[in-house]
Amino acid sequence: MTARIIDGLLLSKQLRAEAAQRVVALTARGYRPGLAVLLVGNNAASQIYVRNKIKACDDNGLYSVCNHYTDKLTEIELLSRIKALNHDPKIHGILVQLPLPPHINTHKIIEAISPEKDVDGFHVANAGALMTGKPLFQPCTPSGVLKMLEWKNIPLAGSNAVVIGRSNIVGKPMAMLLIQADATVTVCGQKTRNLATHTRSADIIVTATGKSNLITANMIKPGATVIDVGISRDNNGKLCGDVDFDSVCKVAGYITPVPGGVGPMTITMLLISTIEAANRTAR
Ligand code: GUN
Repeated sequence: MTARIIDGLLLSKQLRAEAAQRVVALTARGYRPGLAVLLVGNNAASQIYVRNKIKACDDNGLYSVCNHYTDKLTEIELLSRIKALNHDPKIHGILVQLPLPPHINTHKIIEAISPEKDVDGFHVANAGALMTGKPLFQPCTPSGVLKMLEWKNIPLAGSNAVVIGRSNIVGKPMAMLLIQADATVTVCGQKTRNLATHTRSADIIVTATGKSNLITANMIKPGATVIDVGISRDNNGKLCGDVDFDSVCKVAGYITPVPGGVGPMTITMLLISTIEAANRTAR
């Protein structure tokens, strides 16, 4: 078997074209969607992610503000910036790029963002509401994964889904979304014993660990859907996911590539959430 590719770049292009049209319409009514991105410190990967987020805003007509602070920024200064953005009518979404430097309490910062502008869906009000069914915003990466599964009509109800990684950003919200879609969900973490026994019975695998070649062909049920959220670099500096793509694509039914799979979808969902936030204020 050769797996069919779920092309996140293609789906993103379609969704961004629709998003850009909504931006034009909202802008004409005086509600141009606006996103503020706050970055603290010099994490190289974060700088690339933030640059891509701002570029996506520019390309699709959204207003954006990017504040890049040195790691000397204090928690109080960051809190005060968030407070100002909470009251800024031009800003509908606030994103604080994670990770933050260790002297800043991440939890405190996320809780300072108004839940109505929490386009990441990380605030406890939104994370809690995700569990009960109706958050204002869903975390971008898991909701992007769900969109990809829906796009390919991959059945979720009654399926066995295995999520690898249990972060607040990907693993936990991903599990919640799959549970809501009536999948039977297993969440694996670093201490999971014999990962392969779980993955081998999975119809859907979502892996988000950043460990290259963690998932090999012998861990896959033939025909399974394999979604690779991992990002790391190999010894040659080449971008790679968690999945040994070349071998797994011979066994899986569907697979996402890295790059060009989940990555572009994360930013697309961020744009859509920011547009939704602007649309709520326009009513
Ligand atoms: N760091 C890695 N992924 C994300 C994300 O989706 N949002 C934010 N704010 N930080 C991240």
